[in-house]
Amino acid sequence: MTHIMVNVAWPYANGPRHIGHVAGFGVPSDVYARYQRMKGNDVLMVSGTDEHGTPILVEADKEGVTPQELADRYNRVIASDLCKLGLSYDLFTRTTTKNHELVVQELFRQCLANGYIYKGVQKVAISPSTGRTLPDRYIEGECPICHAPGARGDQCDNCGNELDPDELINPVSKINGETPIFQESEHYFLDLPALADANLAWLKTRQGWRTNVLNFSIGLFREVKPRAITRDIDWGIPIPVPGWIDNPNKRLYVWFDAVIGYLSASIEWARRSGDPEAWRKWWNSPEAPGYYFMGKDNITFHSQIWPSEMLAYNGQGSRGGETGQLGPLNLPEQVVASEFMTMEGKKFSSSRGIVIYVKDILERYPVDAVRYYISMAGPETSDSDFTWSEFVRHNNEELAASWGNLVNRVANLIAKNFGEVPPVVESKLTDDDRALLAESAGAFVTVGDLIEHHRQKNALNEAMRVVGDINKYISATEPWKIKDNPERLGTVLHVAAQAVMDANHLLAPFLPHSAQKVFEALGGTGVFSPLPRIEEVEDLDNPAFHYPVITGDYVLGETVRPWKSEPIEVGAPVAKPTPIFAKIPAEAVDEELARFEEALNARKQAESERLEAEKAKLAANE
Ligand code: MF3
Ligand code: ZN
Repeated sequence: MTHIMVNVAWPYANGPRHIGHVAGFGVPSDVYARYQRMKGNDVLMVSGTDEHGTPILVEADKEGVTPQELADRYNRVIASDLCKLGLSYDLFTRTTTKNHELVVQELFRQCLANGYIYKGVQKVAISPSTGRTLPDRYIEGECPICHAPGARGDQCDNCGNELDPDELINPVSKINGETPIFQESEHYFLDLPALADANLAWLKTRQGWRTNVLNFSIGLFREVKPRAITRDIDWGIPIPVPGWIDNPNKRLYVWFDAVIGYLSASIEWARRSGDPEAWRKWWNSPEAPGYYFMGKDNITFHSQIWPSEMLAYNGQGSRGGETGQLGPLNLPEQVVASEFMTMEGKKFSSSRGIVIYVKDILERYPVDAVRYYISMAGPETSDSDFTWSEFVRHNNEELAASWGNLVNRVANLIAKNFGEVPPVVESKLTDDDRALLAESAGAFVTVGDLIEHHRQKNALNEAMRVVGDINKYISATEPWKIKDNPERLGTVLHVAAQAVMDANHLLAPFLPHSAQKVFEALGGTGVFSPLPRIEEVEDLDNPAFHYPVITGDYVLGETVRPWKSEPIEVGAPVAKPTPIFAKIPAEAVDEELARFEEALNARKQAESERLEAEKAKLAANE
C-alpha cells in the first residue's frame, strides 16, 4: 500500500466554474483517485477554492460586494457543483481559513529565515485616472517573450510564462483602456535563482511526465529571475513581518499562498480526522508520491514556484538553511497538466458568454453523461473542442446504446428466466464463454495501467471495448433463443453478468453514479461506488467562520470495491431493471446551439455598452 497525494488545482472563487475547467483538473483527478483507492492505496485528495488576490477583488468591485462576501458566495457554488459532479475529495476547503493563513505564514517565515525571501523594490502599475494600483491581471499588452498580443500582467496565456506588468509591451488597462503609470514600491521577493539548481535537478529526475509538460517546465529555467511575492492590495494573507503584518495595503501574492493550499488542506483534513499529524504520511515521506492535476496555464506554478517554495522551506537551495517544523516537504511526483478545451470552436470566456457552467449542464443532463464525455473527448494531451452534437452522440451511441442496453438486456433476461443470478455449470462452459471471462478479467491490467499513466481516454476506450465484446457475445449466443436448456441458458447469462460486473468495475472510476445502479441491477447490495457529500463546518481556529466542505467515506472493503474481477453472487435477486442510461433527444443539440448563440449576442451587446460608458466617463474627466 502506498500513500498517494492527489492534489487538484484550486478554482478561483470569482464565479461559477465551466465545463472547460472541470475537464482539465476535475474529472481526471477524480478518475485517478478512485482508481488508486480501488487498487488499495491510501489516497488523500484535496483542493479548495482560491479566494485571494486580484481575481477576487476585481469581481467583488464589479458586483459591489466585499471580497469575502464574493468568496463566500462562489465557494458555496463551486463546492456544490464539484460535489454534484461526484468528485471524491477527502477535503475540498478554501484559502480564507485561519488554518491556511497560519500554514502560509509559517512557510513564508522559514523561507525568509533561510534567506530565500528578501526585500526589494518593484515597479507597480497605477491607474492615472483613479490613482489606485491596477491589478496585474487587468493590464494587457504584448508578451515580452513570445510577442503574442493580449498577454496579461501576471501571465501570458499564449506561451504560459509568468510575467510582471511592467514587462508588457504597450500595456493598457482592461478596465478602461488607459495606459498605466509605473511607480516603485517595496516588496518581498522569492529568490528563484538561488533555488533554480535544486529545482531543475529535481525536474531532470522526473519520469513518466507528458513530454510537453516536462519540456515546458525545463524551459522555464533558461532564464530565472526573482519574483515579487507581495502586492499593493488590501485583500490577501498579511505578510508575517513586523511593520508589514499590520499594513492594510500590503498582502501576499495570491499564487504564493494558493499552492500552499495543498499542504494546508492536508493539515486541515488531518486535524478534522482526529489525528492532527496524519498528513505527514503524505508530505514527509519521500515514498509517498504527489500527483498534481491542472490545466496547462498552471504548469509554471507547480513545476517551479511550488517546488521552489518547498525547497526554500526545506533549506535545500544554494544557500542551504534549516528545515521548518512542517518539513521536509515532498516535491511533486508528477505535474499532470491537461491542454485547453474550447467550446463550439471558440475559446471559453465567461465575459463573452462562451461558456457552459457545470451547474447548468448538470441540471439538464445526467452527471455521468458529462463525465463520460469529458473522459472520452477532454483535452488530455491535446486541445479539444466541446460540441453539443458530440456530447449527444457519445451519450446516445456509447453510453445508452452500447453500455446501457447491455446492462438492461442481461438484467432483463436474468429477471425473466431466473429472478436471480443463475449458477454457471463448469462443464457447460464453451471456449467462447471462457474467452469472454478471460478478456473481462484481463482488462483490469490493461485499463489500470493506462489510468496509472494518465492515459484515461485510452483506458476508457479499452473498458468500452470489453463492453462491445460482451455485446458481441450476447448477439452470438442469442440467449433469448435458448429453449428447454436451463443449464446452458443459466451459464450464458451467468457469464454475461460476470463480464458486465467486471466492466462495471472498470468503468466505476469514470462513471461512479451509474456504476452503483448497474451493481444494484445485477443483484449487488451495499455501496459499490462512493459519492462525496457537502458538510457544513466551523473554522478550526475561528469559531465565527463557517463554510461548506466536500468530503466523503472512501474505504476499500467498505465503500470502495477492489480493482479486480469479483465473482458475481449466485442467487442474488435480479428484478426487471429500470433503464440506467437514457438517450438525449436529437433536438437538444439545436436547442443548446440556439441558447449558446443568444448568450453570445447578449454578452457582446452588454460588453460594448460597458466599454462605451467607461470611455465616456474618462472623456468627461479630461
Ligand atoms: N486559481 C488558479 C486558477 O484558476 C489555480 C490555482 S491552483 C493552486 O488558475 F495551485 F493554487 F492550487
Ligand atoms: Zn508569451
